[in-house]
Amino acid sequence: MKTINWGILGAARVNQRLLPAIECNQHSKILMLASRRNGAAEECIQQYTKNPEGIKTTTHFDDVIDHPEINAIYIPLANEEHTEVALQAIAQKKHVLIEKPMALTKQEVQSITQAAKDNNVIAMEGFMYVFHPQFDFVLDFINAGKLGKVQYAHSMFSFPIQPARYYRINRSMKDGGGALWDIGPYAIHTLRHVMRGHIKQVNASAKMNSHQADMSTSGILEFTDQRRATFDISFECTRRSEFEIFGDQGRIKCHTVWQHENDEAVITYELDGSAPIIEKIQKGNHFDLEINHFVECIFNNQESTKLSMHDAIQQAATMQAIYKSIHNNQWVHV
Ligand SMILES: NC(=O)c1ccc[n+]([C@@H]2O[C@H](COP(=O)([O-])OP(=O)(O)OC[C@H]3O[C@@H](n4cnc5c(N)ncnc54)[C@H](OP(=O)(O)O)[C@@H]3O)[C@@H](O)[C@H]2O)c1
Repeated sequence: MKTINWGILGAARVNQRLLPAIECNQHSKILMLASRRNGAAEECIQQYTKNPEGIKTTTHFDDVIDHPEINAIYIPLANEEHTEVALQAIAQKKHVLIEKPMALTKQEVQSITQAAKDNNVIAMEGFMYVFHPQFDFVLDFINAGKLGKVQYAHSMFSFPIQPARYYRINRSMKDGGGALWDIGPYAIHTLRHVMRGHIKQVNASAKMNSHQADMSTSGILEFTDQRRATFDISFECTRRSEFEIFGDQGRIKCHTVWQHENDEAVITYELDGSAPIIEKIQKGNHFDLEINHFVECIFNNQESTKLSMHDAIQQAATMQAIYKSIHNNQWVHV
């Protein structure tokens, strides 16, 4: 396979970042974009692609899913819609890049995993941030033992939700609405990846709006070795996308996870009483790097090592437990 022909399901806002990344990949070509809303697909490709002329549009998802020349499908649909279309696409032997959260339950992610295995295709959850060089820097720092033993981490993600995005909070958490499903995946994923180990149980509390969507949620992850991590996410606070890790010999902080490609990333750390050290990391476009990685996985016929399906299952199990904890107001085993 020399070229990966892409189909896109949904005229979503995030296409603004992903479509240029796909166009940038030397082995990729966007063949078709589907939107159920008349005119939205055309508008999307005009707005977000450099070469809209070669891209077909349709209002039927099946035109993309059944297209014989399309090998890979990007799924930026609303969170609760991912599983059904992913399974349809996989059944047609398409590789699928599914936006985070891949699904709302562990069982759904397991079904996607099994289907991908059965059909010999690659499925990956779209956590672009793991591809930024700053995240490699943090992981290398931990792996080199510079913090000593990692004991605790805290992550904070928020932005004040704008009226144009109110549809994200006009439906209940049960139906995929609210901050937990939207920005929560980053908070939990970063903690899981920097803390390592197994999460035993979680406890979380949320401030709900009248639609039973969470506006703000805070929580604790307790690992089997009793280490803890905490998170705080909100649609009501100023923009933050950061996490800090504490070992018994030092601390390190990533200041902006949602790093813009033109901005130099900054990581700060302190080691056992040293003055704070500022590390400037090379710029990087994590969306471009994510697509390059996914295409490489397809060419190598090998699941992602950075974002494996095992990781996606653990992620969904943790998210599901947090959701349950919010509603039952108690610790929930993962
Ligand atoms: N990786 C990242 O950086 C990142 C960033 C943001 C979001 N995300 C994830 O990407 C997915 C999509 O998020 P998003 O914020 O881009 O979604 P969005 O703009 O709300 O679009 C989601 C879907 O809803 C439909 N839609 C879009 N605008 C609509 C409107 N005005 N009225 C009715 N339906 C509309 C579209 O399907 P149709 O075109 O078929 O109607 C679209 O695919 C989510 O899973 C989210 O968690 C990832």
